[in-house]
Amino acid sequence: MTESKPVGWPGVVHREGRTLTRVTSLPDSESKGPAAKSKDSVFHNPAMAGSRTRSVMLMDYAIESGMLGNSEVRALDGLSASGLRARRWLNELPSETASRLIATVGDMNQNALDWAMKTEADFPSNNGELNSLLGDLRASVISQGWHWVDIDPFGSPVPFLDTAIQSLARRGVLEVSATDTAALTGSSKNPLMRRYGARVRLDKLKHDSGLRVLMATVARATARHDRSIIPLLSIWDSHHLRVSVRVLRLMEGANNLESSLGWRVYNPTEEEVEASTNSGLLPKDSSTDLPIRCFLPLSHPVAREDKRISGPMWIGPMGDKDVMASMTVDRSLELCGAIYSEKDPANWSQKNVELENRKVARAVRNIAEESEAIYSHHLIAVDELASWHEKGSPPSPAKMVAYLKEKGHSASVSHYAEPSFRTDAPWSVVVAAMDAIGSAANDR
Ligand SMILES: C[S@@+](CC[C@H](N)C(=O)[O-])C[C@H]1O[C@@H](n2cnc3c(N)ncnc32)[C@H](O)[C@@H]1O
Repeated sequence: MTESKPVGWPGVVHREGRTLTRVTSLPDSESKGPAAKSKDSVFHNPAMAGSRTRSVMLMDYAIESGMLGNSEVRALDGLSASGLRARRWLNELPSETASRLIATVGDMNQNALDWAMKTEADFPSNNGELNSLLGDLRASVISQGWHWVDIDPFGSPVPFLDTAIQSLARRGVLEVSATDTAALTGSSKNPLMRRYGARVRLDKLKHDSGLRVLMATVARATARHDRSIIPLLSIWDSHHLRVSVRVLRLMEGANNLESSLGWRVYNPTEEEVEASTNSGLLPKDSSTDLPIRCFLPLSHPVAREDKRISGPMWIGPMGDKDVMASMTVDRSLELCGAIYSEKDPANWSQKNVELENRKVARAVRNIAEESEAIYSHHLIAVDELASWHEKGSPPSPAKMVAYLKEKGHSASVSHYAEPSFRTDAPWSVVVAAMDAIGSAANDR
């Protein structure tokens, strides 16, 4: 560890989740952006707190389930800034799990690494080990093999993908954030085409389409290195998109990549709905009502100038049922919840602790429930559903879900930017659910 004081040290003691840290200045709790981003100060973005909470929970599940083998786990927080993500892994995972963890903070900014290591020395985790790796991640990542690599850049993750994938062990997890949201959600078309080779229709599902384009980009990068992915979790959260995947050295999966890629079509024609159904991308339906959208396989011809089309994108499931089911509010608080102490170095009151714990719980809201329907093809924003069928007010997602489940279909409220739900029900049943809910409300 370096003995010199990092620029801005000691800053202010702060807490995120259960972990004490230091920040150059106290973040505004409502901030959606970075607290510090000048040349020398160490970057801390309070708006990423939820992402860090989910990262702890995902790692907890991955290690406990044996997904990463049975011995040590080498995890790299590749663009670590203050090192808070890696420090939260070490501090918030259960002792037995964390004791298998060798965590590394990587950054090209020596000041950031000094900050991370000095903070860890001040507030040491009970378990595991923290190392640092200085350098440009695009090259430094291949200095050893990793079971876990986290890429959380300013902007697009694309430049970091190839070497990160090459550096992964036989069994690995890759977590990738993107803050070039305007590109991925279709507002900035040229960067979207340049970086991701895709287009996205600017509509109610633009964040989901952006996530799917990002997933496809990660999948193509892994296939270039004879590996394949299994999506574990995909989240849009205020200013960033993030996908977490298992990466396997399976050439077969890499060869089958095309079957998981395709197009999303808004306002599809009858022929397109039929093609989607025949490809297993829509449930069979005898009704003539056409859905708002459907997926089409990559092999389906689409016109370049067709404004209804988004893609190419990942058209398979965007998460793993078991991983998502493990992300309950109870588990989030058990692992990451702040604990009140009279001798708290951050000087937090009970009220501060409660507020932090609400944030921790919010980070996983609906994820465990959504696991039940994550393999469904419909993600439906209720506002859009109501206007599509020229109804007045949008139906409640929870009521739609209750109705659809009662009819024997998978359905769940989604953790998404718009009030929405997922279901595997045929479109006619979705329409019937909306009508039934509307008339139930009118009967009252
Ligand atoms: C968005 S911040 C990371 C935030 C952090 N992951 C967190 O959870 O708070 C990006 C960090 O990447 C570092 N960085 C940018 N480009 C880099 C590169 N090519 N190699 C290594 N570090 C880089 C910056 O110094 C900065 O600290």
